Amino acid sequence: MRVAMIGAGYVGLVSGACIADFGHQVICIDKDLTKLEALQRGEIPIFEPGLHDLVRSNAKAGRLSFSIEVEEAVRAAEVVFIAVGTPSRRGDGHADLSYVFEAAREIASALNGFTVVITKSTVPVGTGDEVERILREVRPDADFAVVSNPEFLREGAAIHDFKHPDRIVVGTDEERAKNVVSEIYRPLSLNQAPILFTSRRTAELIKYAANAFLATKVTFINEIADLCEKVGADVQEVARGIGLDNRIGAKFLHAGPGFGGSCFPKDLRALIKTAQDNDVPLRILEAVAAVNDTRKRAMARKVSAMFSGALRGKTVAVLGLTFKPNTDDMREAPSLALITALQDMGARVRGFDPAGMGQAQALLTDVVYCENAYDCAEAADALVIVTEWEQFRALDLEHLRDLMACPVIVDLRNIYRPEEVHRHGFAYACVGRPLSALGLTDDASPERLLSLARVRANSPSL
Ligand SMILES: NC(=O)c1ccc[n+]([C@@H]2O[C@H](COP(=O)([O-])OP(=O)(O)OC[C@H]3O[C@@H](n4cnc5c(N)ncnc54)[C@H](O)[C@@H]3O)[C@@H](O)[C@H]2O)c1
Repeated sequence: MRVAMIGAGYVGLVSGACIADFGHQVICIDKDLTKLEALQRGEIPIFEPGLHDLVRSNAKAGRLSFSIEVEEAVRAAEVVFIAVGTPSRRGDGHADLSYVFEAAREIASALNGFTVVITKSTVPVGTGDEVERILREVRPDADFAVVSNPEFLREGAAIHDFKHPDRIVVGTDEERAKNVVSEIYRPLSLNQAPILFTSRRTAELIKYAANAFLATKVTFINEIADLCEKVGADVQEVARGIGLDNRIGAKFLHAGPGFGGSCFPKDLRALIKTAQDNDVPLRILEAVAAVNDTRKRAMARKVSAMFSGALRGKTVAVLGLTFKPNTDDMREAPSLALITALQDMGARVRGFDPAGMGQAQALLTDVVYCENAYDCAEAADALVIVTEWEQFRALDLEHLRDLMACPVIVDLRNIYRPEEVHRHGFAYACVGRPLSALGLTDDASPERLLSLARVRANSPSL
């Protein structure tokens, strides 16, 4: 089938490349000229594992191309996906639908023959009705169907997720549209991915409900982690203990610095707004959003507690800036609030991220960006692990201790075993695993830190 993909960002580019890989003919349209020219040169403007090869092979096979011209692509297409951004609207948290509606207007004038217009962007309930109204207003003569087909891929594993979805949600009552969408995803249904046909409004809500539920699960375990720290329990064992229950499931039960990213925070805000507008306040989700917002700065207090609150003049090395590993996406990353809070407390911040430093530079000020984890740790008073990139999981602790001014690690992703870090002479803090529960001393008093630093200086081979 001939497909036009409007928007070639994290979702549009991955979806376009995967649909081309199924054998369809895809043109990705983006109005960002820099992005588009990069794509036309064969460069991938985002970091997503496997995407470069997938785009290159499909472009080479003549199934995938890029253009800035909506008109020509839509005129030739049987299916048009809308995959433009829906960020939070400033002020009230509602999804900013201006990009979706602008795309709808551009599509409308080029409609030619029966065309299925599919909204892949995450949009509030009723947006499909408005897209349909716009198309009808601009082109009363056109033959089209507007379908909701929300996307559930995760950045960092986007190609796998697109090609092995848990389900494909399709919101439409139109038989012709159902047939077209089934044809697009036929290779996936052969792999047994279930297609859930439902109404358009239901499909729109499914996406928000899914993200809100996952955000709630993360926030739940984060609060349980805080309780663990007070009562001497281990949150990882609590998570395992509850996650083995099939009714609960083990995923999204990793305690950490709070969720961020391009979807959870904004989708939560948008759903809360939709609910308020409909006079059905979603109290649980309001609490989730509030708890998560305060958590990120609270993580800076965890760092400062290692120095009894005296962080002024200290140098903090931050490992991992993106909101999760295997992406360069910095949108609402916990590192942003954490670093700002550390700076507010008077700390100097050094940072390293394998892919996110380009985007981070535009969002943070006064951070010294480093070449690698060890460069970052050089002469630092504390090392804070914010994002669990693979390369941070097996750092040479001996070497790290020799490099640092003060041997302090704050592991916000619980990727190290406290006993091991302790054995290497570090003061260590993590999330929801109090050292006392492991029979280790929790002492990070200034005297102890000083003595650790002194021992290190006198005996570099310790
Ligand atoms: N990023 C994710 O992991 C993810 C996952 C599932 C769903 N979503 C949803 O998918 C949508 C897109 O997200 P994203 O992360 O890909 O956004 P993005 O910002 O990376 O990409 C959007 C692209 O659309 C382009 N664009 C905007 N208006 C356009 C127009 N009129 N014509 C052509 N191009 C236009 C922009 O230039 C940009 O390149 C959002 O609604 C998001 O919530 C995102």
